[in-house]
Amino acid sequence: MVNSKIQAAEENLIHVYNRFPIALDHGEGMYLYDTEGKEYLDFAAGFAVSGLGYDNKELNQALKDQIDKLYHTSNLYFHESCGEAAKELNRISGMDRVFFTNSGGEANEGALKAARRYAYTKKTGRYEFIAMQNSFHGRSFGAVSVTGHDSYREPFEPVVPGVRFAEFNDLDSVKALVNDKTCAIILEPLQGEGGNQSCNTGIYGRNP
Ligand SMILES: Cc1ncc(COP(=O)(O)O)c(C=O)c1O
Repeated sequence: MVNSKIQAAEENLIHVYNRFPIALDHGEGMYLYDTEGKEYLDFAAGFAVSGLGYDNKELNQALKDQIDKLYHTSNLYFHESCGEAAKELNRISGMDRVFFTNSGGEANEGALKAARRYAYTKKTGRYEFIAMQNSFHGRSFGAVSVTGHDSYREPFEPVVPGVRFAEFNDLDSVKALVNDKTCAIILEPLQGEGGNQSCNTGIYGRNP
């Protein structure tokens, strides 16, 4: 029997991801439970997003408290806890400034734009990006342009110009591409999706 939750998604969502045929219902710690009550030990944590475990009471309470106070205010105003959160992130990471984004793709868009903006402000004339073959940086246009997995990028070409691909773990191949137009080098310190090299379709690459 086809699970009705899966059927509803298959019939109503645009088909852009390959999904496992499991409809998840809730989680506890490192375990997930599907709508049939089957338990799964989760090694993925939602691509490393749910690192505190599922149903973490402290996190849940903080989210509930905030939703009850203010849901959305836009970036036109300062916010009671925004600066405090940034300060804490800087303390933990040892970085100087924070840029809040909604997703990994958007974080990479911000990084690419920061590099281009720096080159523009300094009038260096540099605009090229060097990225790695087999890499994955997200599905937005800039991120897909520096994504080395061909199956994610090719259907959207021509993408953002000025990107050249070197070989991961081969510093000479990177050095060979550096020139007076190089603006930034982007790479995953540890290749995740990009480390999946057995095929060039990616782990969730349906009709990208
Ligand atoms: C290495 C890497 N970069 C960027 C992204 C894009 O993140 P998001 O799906 O949050 O846009 C992913 C997503 O899996 C990723 O694995």
